[in-house]
Amino acid sequence: MDKLEIEGGVRLSGEVSISGAKNAALPVMAASILSSGENVISNVPQLRDISTMGKLLAHLGMGYHQENGKVILQSKKIEAIEAPYDYVKTMRASVLVLGPLVARTGEARVSLPGGCAIGARPINLHTMGLEKMGARITLSRGYIRAKAKRLKGAMIYFDIPTVTGTENLMMAATLAEGQTILENAACEPEVVDLANALISMGAHIEGAGTSTVKISGVSKLRPLKYKIIPDRIETGTFITAAAITGGEVKIRNCNPGHNEALINKIRETGAEISAKKNTLFVKGPERPSSEDIKTMPYPGFPTDMQAQFMALMAVADGTSVITENIFENRFMHVAELRRMGADIRVEGPTATVKGIKTLKGAQVMATDLRASASLVIAGLAAQGTTVIDRVYHIDRGYQCIEEKLGGLGAKIRRVK
Ligand code: EPU
Repeated sequence: MDKLEIEGGVRLSGEVSISGAKNAALPVMAASILSSGENVISNVPQLRDISTMGKLLAHLGMGYHQENGKVILQSKKIEAIEAPYDYVKTMRASVLVLGPLVARTGEARVSLPGGCAIGARPINLHTMGLEKMGARITLSRGYIRAKAKRLKGAMIYFDIPTVTGTENLMMAATLAEGQTILENAACEPEVVDLANALISMGAHIEGAGTSTVKISGVSKLRPLKYKIIPDRIETGTFITAAAITGGEVKIRNCNPGHNEALINKIRETGAEISAKKNTLFVKGPERPSSEDIKTMPYPGFPTDMQAQFMALMAVADGTSVITENIFENRFMHVAELRRMGADIRVEGPTATVKGIKTLKGAQVMATDLRASASLVIAGLAAQGTTVIDRVYHIDRGYQCIEEKLGGLGAKIRRVK
């Protein structure tokens, strides 16, 4: 298993370019099920999760090919309707094929995802929505089966805004008979990107990016030709890495508007951040000051940046209170940050971080994607060497992390 070795204490400086958004590319790839022909998706990051989705779509009978940031999916034939356990257990986002498969073929069987490192993460709202649209849902031997000759438009209210739930039902509704209204829908930029991709295929969607999304079903969709938005979480991770090292970094090919909550908070810790079109300039402070955060659905502070922000607060001047409102178990990084000397106390959904002057390098273990990013950020600022085990977690969501950080001067290498 690969490890990352980081020699801390270097102020990052230079330019870095952001890749396409993993969490936008995954649903857009699944949306190609709704068409019949050649789908070309560009600005797709080269990541393990993307190839898992590609292999799953190939398992369904589609052609899948990835080259130079493009994914090409041939969707003329769908030969299978099942997302097997082996795919779903490696990547929960496999569940995104559920809605489009029922819409296109009238039936889908998707392995029910189990709990994961950050929480129980049920998919009851995805199935509730499909049921409202007339699908018959059954659970057998760990698989969810959804069946409907043609889905029917429905009024669907989400108890909690769910990102992939909104995406699944939005895709399903594009080919349904009549109008579907999604209330309390997720407003994340990735949902908007999927809506734009579907609209480019001929779908009728209004209101994506607000909590009410209206979809009028059509009988057919064209294949995709679509460019994915930049990854706001990769952007946020580099903003935080620049801030913690007191560095000066220019972040290119990003969308500053998608990171307002984070930028605002990082500015309050003392960093100077300015934006110009698709570029951000970040100048980290000598030592960050403490700030409290509460994770919230978009446009609130993203849960996917909570762990990285905590690493920054671990060395802040003062005490920070971090509340995780989205996932019930997203503090796995705390025990690892403590191994580096961080003073963090957790009580329920709240972590109290008493900033210390310097973290000390240590051997630590990545437990999930964003937790591993927080360990990298901590390692960049720590005194001495940090070795991060189970790097495959970071490879799921960050393209060429060590090359990109290395390009900014970080002393980081992969140990095979
Ligand atoms: N929830 C339910 N029932 C459902 C669906 C969700 O109770 O049917 C709950 C979840 O348990 C959670 C909350 O609703 O407490 C929000 O979860 P959501 O469904 O929005 O999460 P997700 O769609 O499974 C996506 C991202 C995650 C990101 C979250 C929150 C993708 C592929 N994944 O997950 O990304 O953390 O939204 O923004 O888009 C990551 O990239 O590292 C990652 C985990």
